[in-house]
Amino acid sequence: MSSLRIALNDGIQLPWLAFGSGTALWQQDAAAQVEHAIRAGFVHIDTAQMYQNEDSVGRGIARSGALRGDLYVTTKLDRLLEGANVHDSLVDSLRKLGLDYVDLFLVHMPVDHPSLKDTWAEMEQVKEEGLAKSIGVSNFQPRHLDVILESAKVVPAVNQIEYNPYLVKASQPVLDYCKEHGIAVAAFGGLSPLSRFSDGPVNPILKKVAARLRKDAGKLVSEAQILQLWLRKKNIVCITTSSKKERLAEYVAVGLLPDITDAEEREIDEAGSQVHHRVWATWIDEGL
Ligand SMILES: NC(=O)c1ccc[n+]([C@@H]2O[C@H](COP(=O)([O-])OP(=O)(O)OC[C@H]3O[C@@H](n4cnc5c(N)ncnc54)[C@H](OP(=O)(O)O)[C@@H]3O)[C@@H](O)[C@H]2O)c1
Repeated sequence: MSSLRIALNDGIQLPWLAFGSGTALWQQDAAAQVEHAIRAGFVHIDTAQMYQNEDSVGRGIARSGALRGDLYVTTKLDRLLEGANVHDSLVDSLRKLGLDYVDLFLVHMPVDHPSLKDTWAEMEQVKEEGLAKSIGVSNFQPRHLDVILESAKVVPAVNQIEYNPYLVKASQPVLDYCKEHGIAVAAFGGLSPLSRFSDGPVNPILKKVAARLRKDAGKLVSEAQILQLWLRKKNIVCITTSSKKERLAEYVAVGLLPDITDAEEREIDEAGSQVHHRVWATWIDEGL
């Protein structure tokens, strides 16, 4: 089991490693994958209304036989249809997931909400009611966080963003902002340098660091694990996924590996800073 946890600003401990039911599982039945992930040692499951598979995530959780208290479940608020509200939308997610509460509820996309202030006030209400233990945001930039912090009673606990070495430069302002306000950062797309841009400047360094760790730790170490260790070194939560049981075991085993060094982290940062690659929420780079 991956036991590392990150302390949130509301006193709750968030499991560092999460299995996601988006991307490859978007609009797909995720039950078997979620069950495998929990059996492999994942305790944090990340889903979203937008993925349209919360019901199958719920089935996977139930089939795993895990105790509710041993799991940490995140879901995310989609765009609200005319006349809909945050409370009813979360109650619908809970019905699909077969749960009484989620551990973390995030506003998925700032650009989907005409009044971020009003949406955030409703998010605070569902936390107050105990339907979500923690509340946070996703894909938020400082300009969006500024809007909600102006009137927020609860500071978001988490900002879930796309992050990997090719976003080091572009993401520095939002990372600095989150640090200043005590908002934990969670990353998706962390494996993009392997899965989506496999001939970039970071790849030779990942190979080199994996070889160094393999020698020192006396264990097989993959390049994916180096990217995950790079996130861990920065205290950034890792939201990943895999269709393969071997990779699920590999990700969980990161918990047993030592940290990469400061110099290795710097070398990956510097190589990644040479290029910019964003896959999702590309409107961020247009200043929206
Ligand atoms: N908040 C948001 O807006 C948002 C957006 C996107 C995603 N997410 C969340 O984050 C989760 C993870 O997102 P992600 O898919 O971008 O995560 P990721 O960790 O970057 O990538 C996981 C993918 O990498 C592949 N992979 C692993 N090792 C590889 C290797 N050595 N070579 C090539 N491919 C490799 C896996 O494929 P295999 O199946 O073959 O192992 C898997 O599909 C999603 O499921 C979702 O829950 C959130």
